[in-house]
Amino acid sequence: MTRIKKVVITAYGDESKLAIVESDLPEPTTGEVQLAVDYTIVSGSDVNMRRGTYPLQKKPPLTPGYSVIGKVCVNGKGCSKFKIGDRVACLSKYEGQAELINLPEKYLVRVPDGVDGKAAVALILDWVTAYQMLHRVAHVRPGQKIFVHALSGAVGGALSRLGQLEGSQVFGTASLKKQDEVRQLGAVPFDYSTKKWIAAMQDLGGVDAVFDPLGFESFDESYSVLKKGGVLVGYGMNLPAWTRTRERPVIPSALKLFSKNLLFWSGRRATFFGVNRRSKNFAPDLERLFQWLKDGKISVPIKAAFKLDEIQQAHREYASSARLGSIVIEVR
Ligand SMILES: NC(=O)c1ccc[n+]([C@@H]2O[C@H](COP(=O)([O-])OP(=O)(O)OC[C@H]3O[C@@H](n4cnc5c(N)ncnc54)[C@H](OP(=O)(O)O)[C@@H]3O)[C@@H](O)[C@H]2O)c1
Repeated sequence: MTRIKKVVITAYGDESKLAIVESDLPEPTTGEVQLAVDYTIVSGSDVNMRRGTYPLQKKPPLTPGYSVIGKVCVNGKGCSKFKIGDRVACLSKYEGQAELINLPEKYLVRVPDGVDGKAAVALILDWVTAYQMLHRVAHVRPGQKIFVHALSGAVGGALSRLGQLEGSQVFGTASLKKQDEVRQLGAVPFDYSTKKWIAAMQDLGGVDAVFDPLGFESFDESYSVLKKGGVLVGYGMNLPAWTRTRERPVIPSALKLFSKNLLFWSGRRATFFGVNRRSKNFAPDLERLFQWLKDGKISVPIKAAFKLDEIQQAHREYASSARLGSIVIEVR
């Protein structure tokens, strides 16, 4: 056992429900590796966990932290892939906001030397999600048009950058205050408080893919701007949280999304994406993004960085920030 500090969501609610506690971490079991965490993130997912709106989530008290970069400090029985001190990454989902974490060796991905840990930790969840939606679901090709909701978000920004790298033309939504920055990054933004983007995309003849983290009626609107052969990729149901309206059951919205595929004569399809570290493509896709970061092909905007015991501030920043990018927690 080792005594560690970690973040705990003590109950559903606002930022005051985040505490730093001390607890005992057991030694890693067979097949597990213990990491000394260098960096973790605060993402939309753990904000949803704090509110109690993340699908099928653990109940409080729980420790969030969806991705980590850290150094191997103990190899459990049967683990020999990494040496003590090696720097690795993992999609942890829980327990990442802690000084130490035990993780299955099979899900660890080596971080190349020379890669900035703060930028690298943001790639694990948000950029792999964006990469896989573009390349493994929508199969975006050069010259295509894509529509990205929440262009100024961490996943939206990654979709914009990776879409443009592939040679697609990127349209999407952003609040008025962030539109200049989004435009400078090469995308064409529309204000999401009006629905003018719908007619604008239809007038263009429709788009090849839409990426939608909002759900509910937004899925219908997104589907309406697809051209024949186009695909709607849902990846969240954040409309109630982002519009501060009452929570709604997600299953009817998911069923409605999939039922759009019954209209097979429309030539359009709809699907939902969930990133999964067990997927055979997860490690290769993350390794590709690490290499692109190292080569300077991509750069990762970091909205703000906080220490572990500034976790309440980090969540407040998430809700109010006027900047683009990911929120990183520097653990050591
Ligand atoms: N399925 C998966 O595998 C997966 C993986 C990763 C993340 N996610 C989901 O993706 C969501 C987005 O994550 P993120 O980290 O990219 O978000 P984020 O960085 O927190 O960004 C949220 C964005 O939402 C925008 N927004 C607010 N209200 C909006 C509205 N009514 N319409 C359109 N956009 C609105 C904001 O734009 P302004 O700042 O311009 O107001 C902001 O850019 C997460 O909550 C999570 O549920 C899913």
